[in-house]
Amino acid sequence: MIAMFFKLLILTLASLAAAEDVNFTYNGFRSANLSLDGSAQFTSNGLLMVTNDTEEQKGHAFYPNPVTFKNSYSNSNVFSFSTIFVFAVRSVSATLGGHGMAFVIAPKRAFPGAYGGPFLGLFNRANNGNPTNHVFAVELDTVRSASFNDIDNNHVGIDINGLNSTGFASAAYYAKKNGGLRNLTLNSGKPMQLWVEYDGTHKQINVTLAPINVDKPHAPLISLNHDLAPILNKTMYVGFSSSTGSVPTSHCILGWSFKMNGQAQELVLSQLPKLPRVGGKKMSKLLTIGVPVISVSLVFLAISGVIYAIRRKRKFAELLEDWELEYGPQRFKYKELYIATEGFREKELLGRGGFGKVYKGILPASKTEIAVKRISHESRQGMKEFVAEIVSIGRLRHRNLVPLLGYCRRKGELLLVYDYMPNGSLDKYLYNQPTATLNWGQRFKVIRGVASGLFYLHEEWEQVVVHRDVKASNVLLDGELNGRLGDFGLARLYDHGTDPQTTHIVGTVGYLAPEQARSGKATTSTDVFSFGAFLLEVACGRRPIETQGPLQGVILVDWVFSCWNKGNILEARDGNLGTEIISKEVELVLKLGLLCSYSEPSARPSMRQVVQYLEGDIAFPELSFLGHSSSGLTFAPQEGSDDFAKSYQSSSFTGLSYVESTLLSGGR
Ligand SMILES: *[C@@H]1O[C@H](CO)[C@@H](O)[C@H](O)[C@H]1NC(C)=O
Ligand SMILES: *[C@@H]1O[C@H](CO)[C@@H](O)[C@H](O)[C@H]1NC(C)=O
Ligand SMILES: *[C@@H]1O[C@H](CO)[C@@H](O)[C@H](O)[C@H]1NC(C)=O
Ligand SMILES: *[C@@H]1O[C@H](CO)[C@@H](O)[C@H](O)[C@H]1NC(C)=O
Ligand SMILES: *[C@@H]1O[C@H](CO)[C@@H](O)[C@H](O)[C@H]1NC(C)=O
Ligand SMILES: *[C@@H]1O[C@H](CO)[C@@H](O)[C@H](O)[C@H]1NC(C)=O
Ligand SMILES: *[C@@H]1O[C@H](CO)[C@@H](O)[C@H](O)[C@H]1NC(C)=O
Repeated sequence: MIAMFFKLLILTLASLAAAEDVNFTYNGFRSANLSLDGSAQFTSNGLLMVTNDTEEQKGHAFYPNPVTFKNSYSNSNVFSFSTIFVFAVRSVSATLGGHGMAFVIAPKRAFPGAYGGPFLGLFNRANNGNPTNHVFAVELDTVRSASFNDIDNNHVGIDINGLNSTGFASAAYYAKKNGGLRNLTLNSGKPMQLWVEYDGTHKQINVTLAPINVDKPHAPLISLNHDLAPILNKTMYVGFSSSTGSVPTSHCILGWSFKMNGQAQELVLSQLPKLPRVGGKKMSKLLTIGVPVISVSLVFLAISGVIYAIRRKRKFAELLEDWELEYGPQRFKYKELYIATEGFREKELLGRGGFGKVYKGILPASKTEIAVKRISHESRQGMKEFVAEIVSIGRLRHRNLVPLLGYCRRKGELLLVYDYMPNGSLDKYLYNQPTATLNWGQRFKVIRGVASGLFYLHEEWEQVVVHRDVKASNVLLDGELNGRLGDFGLARLYDHGTDPQTTHIVGTVGYLAPEQARSGKATTSTDVFSFGAFLLEVACGRRPIETQGPLQGVILVDWVFSCWNKGNILEARDGNLGTEIISKEVELVLKLGLLCSYSEPSARPSMRQVVQYLEGDIAFPELSFLGHSSSGLTFAPQEGSDDFAKSYQSSSFTGLSYVESTLLSGGR
C-alpha cells in the first residue's frame, strides 16, 4: 500500500518535472554551472572560451542537465524551442582563423573519437553524416572545407548529423533601414548575436545573425523547413562545440539563453562580460615624439623576429598528417621533447640501440622523467600502419613492460617516448661484472618478470603482440630491479623492407630462431626461442655467441647442452654467482633455456607453459624428451664428447650456424 503510494508520488513528480519547460539565461557565466571539456574554460570575468588562443584544440560546453524535446506519448513531434547567444571569434588575423564553433543539440555531452580542425569536435571521418548520430548543430564556420561542400570561409550552416550543411548562407544580416543584406565577418573579433528558433508545428528552423547592439532583424538569414523528429531523441543535451586548427583562435560566448516551448529571454547586453583587449595600451602623449624612432626599431625588430620565427619553425618542424589527429593525446610536440632533453645533448645520451639513440629527458610541464628514442626512418611507406600499431601498443599496461607514452614524427625521423627506467638495461649487469652484478635471487626475479611480460604480450592482451627482439639489452630494470621488456613491436618498422641498410631478417643473431632466419617471419614461437637464449644468457653471464676473447665463436646453447650431456648442467652457470645460488632454480632455468632453443617450433613450450614451469606450477619434463622427439629434425647429442667447439661445428640443435651463414652471405 505504502509502496504503491510512493510509486504514484514518484510518477507524478516525474511527469511534473518533464512538463516544466527548460528555461535558462546566462548574462555572462560568472556563476554558471556548465559541463566543460577539452579546451573549454571560463575566464575570471565570466566569459566562456570554448577554445582559447591555442592551436589544434577542441572544446565542449554543455548545459549540465538533459533537456526534454518530446513528450512521452509521441515520438513524431518535437517541441518548439529557441535560443539566443552572443559570441565572438578572435584570431591573429582577420582573414585567417578557425575552424569554427557550433550550437549543438546532441544525445550525449561527450563526443568520443571526434576530430578537431574542420570536424569542429563533433564528428570524425567515419561517422560524418551518419543518421545514427542524432546531432543537430548550427555552425559558424570560418574555414572553407571542400570536403563538406562549404560555400566560403565565413558562413552559417545548419548541420544535421554531419558537416555537409543542409541549409547555409554567407554571414550577413538584414538591416532595418533599407531591408538589404549586409555582410558580416565572423572572424572579426567583434561580438555578434545569433538566434536559433524551431517551430514544432510547422517544422521550420530559422537562424538569424546580427551585430551586437542591432535589434533582431525582421527576416532570418536562413529559414529551413525540416522536421527534427527523426533527429532529436526524447532527451538531449544543449551546448557548444568548437575547434581550432593551425591558427590560434579563441571562440568565446558572452551570454546564452534557451527556452523550450517559447521565446528565449533576450540577453541584457550591458551585463555581458567584456572581451579582453586585442591590442596593447594606448601610447602616452610623451611618446608620440619618439614615434619615428620607435617605428624604425619596430621594423627592425619585426624583421629579426620573422627571421627568428622562421629559424625556430624549421628547428621545431614536425610532420603531422590528417590521419594522426585522432592520436592527439599520444602525440608529443617536438619542441616539448627538445626542451625535455635539453636539445638532445650528448650529456643526456643514455645509449645507442639497434634502432637509434636514446636520450634522457624531463617533461617541462609534468616533470616526468622520460627516455626518448630517436629512430631515423626515411620512408613514409607503412608509417601509418606502424604509428597505429605504436599507439595501440601504447595502451599496453603491465608491470613488466616499459610504458610507451607516445610519439612524435619529423621528416625522416620518428621519436618514441618511454618512461625512464633508472637502473638501465640488464646486459650491463651481466657483462660488466664485477663492477655491476646481480645475485641469483635478483636474476631469477628478472627472469620471472620478463616471462610474465612476454606471456601478457602473447596471450593476455586483446591482440597477440610478437616482441621480435627479446634479449638482455632490451630488458630494463626499474627502481625496484624488476625486469621490464622494452622496444616491443619496433622491429616491425624495418619489416616493411624499406630500409636497404638492414637485411630482411629482423632480430639479433644468436636469438634468432632457425625458421625465422629462413622465412623472416616472426611468431610467438620465435619469441620463445629468443627467450630461451635470454635465459641462458642470464644464468651463464655470457652472450649467445661470444664475439671476442678466448671463447670467440662459441655458441652458448651448444656449450650448455654439452654440460648437460656430461651430466653436470650446473657447470655452465655464471662463475660470478658464487655459492649463494639455489641449484634447483639455476638448473630449471638452464634446462628451460635448452627446451626453448629447440629447432622445431612446435616442440618449444608456449609462454604460458614457461611461466608455469618458472612458478613451479607444473613439473618440468625430463629433458631426455628432447633427444627422442618425434619431430623428425635431426638431433645429434655428442655422446662422450666434451669438446664443445667441435659440437658447435656439427650441431643442428639450434640452427645457429645456418643463421650465421645466411647473414654473412647477405641475408637475402
Ligand atoms: C524564464 O525564467 C526567468 C527567470 O529565470 C523568468 O523571468 C521568465 O519569465 C521565464 N520565462 C518564461 C517564458 O517562463
Ligand atoms: C553542477 O551541475 C551538476 C549536474 O547537475 C551537479 O552534479 C553539480 O553539483 C553542480 N555543481 C554546482 C557547483 O552547482
Ligand atoms: C589554453 O588552454 C590550455 C588548456 O586548457 C592551456 O594549457 C593554455 O595555457 C591556454 N592558453 C591560453 C593562451 O590561455
Ligand atoms: C536516440 O534514439 C535512437 C532511435 O530512437 C536510438 O537508437 C538511440 O539509441 C538514441 N540515442 C541515445 C543516446 O539515447
Ligand atoms: C559531403 O560532401 C562531400 C563533397 O561533395 C562528399 O564527398 C561527401 O560524400 C558528403 N558527405 C555526406 C555525408 O553527405
Ligand atoms: C558579401 O559577401 C558575398 C559573399 O561572400 C559577396 O559575394 C558580396 O560581394 C559581398 N558584398 C559586399 C557588399 O561586400
Ligand atoms: C521564420 O521566419 C519566417 C520569415 O520571417 C517567419 O514567417 C516564420 O514564422 C519564422 N519561423 C520561426 C520558427 O521563427
